[in-house]
Amino acid sequence: MTPFKSAALGRIKPSPTIAVTQKARELKAAGRDVIGLGAGEPDFDTPDNIKEAAVRAIAEGKTKYTDVDGIPELKAAICAKFKRENGLDYVPAQVNVSPGGKAVIYNAFMATLNTGDEVIVPAPYWVSYPDIALLADATPVIVQTRAEDGYKLKAPDLEAAITPRTRWVVLNSPSNPTGAAYSAADLKPLADVLMRHPHVMVLTDDMYEHLVYDDFQFATIAAVEPGLYERTLTMNGVSKAYAMTGWRIGYAAGPQWLIKGMAGIMSQSTTNACSIAQYASVEALNGPQDFLPTRNAVFKERRDLVVSMLNQAKGLMCPTPEGAFYVYPSCAGAIGLTAPSGAVIGNDEDFARELLESEGVAVVHGAAFGSSPAFRISYATATATLEDACARIQRFCAALR
Ligand SMILES: Cc1ncc(COP(=O)(O)O)c(C=O)c1O
Repeated sequence: MTPFKSAALGRIKPSPTIAVTQKARELKAAGRDVIGLGAGEPDFDTPDNIKEAAVRAIAEGKTKYTDVDGIPELKAAICAKFKRENGLDYVPAQVNVSPGGKAVIYNAFMATLNTGDEVIVPAPYWVSYPDIALLADATPVIVQTRAEDGYKLKAPDLEAAITPRTRWVVLNSPSNPTGAAYSAADLKPLADVLMRHPHVMVLTDDMYEHLVYDDFQFATIAAVEPGLYERTLTMNGVSKAYAMTGWRIGYAAGPQWLIKGMAGIMSQSTTNACSIAQYASVEALNGPQDFLPTRNAVFKERRDLVVSMLNQAKGLMCPTPEGAFYVYPSCAGAIGLTAPSGAVIGNDEDFARELLESEGVAVVHGAAFGSSPAFRISYATATATLEDACARIQRFCAALR
């Protein structure tokens, strides 16, 4: 039959980061020597105590439908986490558990947005924010940040983007793709702007909270400005910190009217997140946290290696980010040059393609994250592999004419 599709599907594009990972996998399968630096997941395994909690849940028959937006045990663990780590008081009726952090955002936007509503998204952004807003038929309003500001949104730029149609502002710290993280002092001026616009909600995506380096103090906006508590959805998850990307558990806390709306969307779409993964997540949040600093020490060492090696590559400039496992070097110095294949590098997509062609290193071009010319490297990969990849990038840059 003739294929057909919804207008909603027509508004979005497939995830470019997944596309790069796929392309690298295909080239590898075809026998090419390829290093993929596109993946957005830790290369560590889920800790054993968490796996064992899942096995126990299966053995105990905790394998049935649960409450739509989360089991009471996990909601209690989430409330305790917010209190312990963020100084935020929530009760279980203010908590949502969804099948992944991405689903939290989807449920929140689906529950609140209508045609023409605006969602402010600072760029470079995680690729899903604008597209989930588009699925809900809202309009993403992209606000550029600057490398010299560490890719952090500044108060005057936020103020200028707010209109009567603004429904949400998205904050993400530490950031995917830049690794930039907002201190309490960075957040305060943004909170001051938002206090002047009481019709705007804040979605703060704190997914990489635990991945910060050099004694950086993580901060989240509802704690920095209690006046925003009623207007903030504080989102987090187990995917990155606990190396649980495949388990699909994300969570958030916010006003009860919103949490109720999100459960309404879930009740007619996914129903609950996986029961077994929910019990495993109780262990993740309540169990020992001592593996985090050990893993962070490895991530920090890799970040320092990658930043240093990229800054020695001709035409690249790489800021040192505070967190996550990404760096976002500018490749402005390579634009207009000719690659070994004879192709002229006109933009960051050309840069990424030529780099993959001539040196077999897969990175994600900056245009995918709304900010060019740059590219994203994920350093959640073995240190020796990163060293090899950065040496290849240096060689590629040196060969540009
Ligand atoms: C900033 C950010 N938020 C949310 C997510 C989604 O997390 P999950 O895998 O739990 O859906 C990701 C995953 O890449 C991310 O980078």
